[in-house]
Amino acid sequence: MKSYQDIFQSSKKTTTKRLILRILQKSDINYDYVEALNNESIVGMTEARHTKWTKKKIEDYINLNNNSPSMLLIGVFLKENNIHLGNIRLSNISRIHKRTEISMLFYRKDYWNKGIATEALEQVINLTFSEIRLRRICADYFENNYASKRIFEKLGFIVEGIYKEHFYKNGNFINSVRVALMQ
Ligand SMILES: CC(C)(COP(=O)(O)OP(=O)(O)OC[C@H]1O[C@@H](n2cnc3c(N)ncnc32)[C@H](O)[C@@H]1OP(=O)(O)O)[C@@H](O)C(=O)NCCC(=O)NCCS
Repeated sequence: MKSYQDIFQSSKKTTTKRLILRILQKSDINYDYVEALNNESIVGMTEARHTKWTKKKIEDYINLNNNSPSMLLIGVFLKENNIHLGNIRLSNISRIHKRTEISMLFYRKDYWNKGIATEALEQVINLTFSEIRLRRICADYFENNYASKRIFEKLGFIVEGIYKEHFYKNGNFINSVRVALMQ
């Protein structure tokens, strides 16, 4: 049976107007990426915030994802200069139930609010349905993550529920929003 990594590698849906999508490799780790993962203003609404990231820890994370039968870590790069902008990750992929969770981290603040995450996510959704052949994609976000809210809305995700006070952060409990998109 082909791995999700192999299916992705043989897909033709790995570019968009401005972007190249490819399996993230250890050689893609750069200083800015390590710094960003330790920057609260970037990872503060993700679970990456709990780790003190080093190059070695990111290498281990990439290895774990790239050798997993239930994860797919996709790096997103700008076509014009090959800069790594961030990642989209499928996790808890189930062949049986034909579903996956999806998450994203775009760490280059200078590229925020230019439609990059939306453009990349749209293509990953497209290939998740058509080539990985799943039929349900779900995601969770901090209720006050307005950029995520907007992206999922734009791509047609439906809010399925609110997990009350699901995340603890700096003395506060924050609601989590569960959204999903069906093929
Ligand atoms: C959230 C994140 C993926 C957004 O990436 P991006 O490339 O800036 O996203 P896009 O430009 O495609 O879309 C962002 C949308 O949110 C809107 N937006 C941004 N901040 C907003 C705010 N405070 N209130 C309302 N809308 C907001 C933008 O205007 C844009 O919508 P538009 O295209 O209708 O104008 C990126 O900032 C990121 O990775 N942040 C850190 C990690 C994180 O939060 N990950 C998501 C966890 S669920």
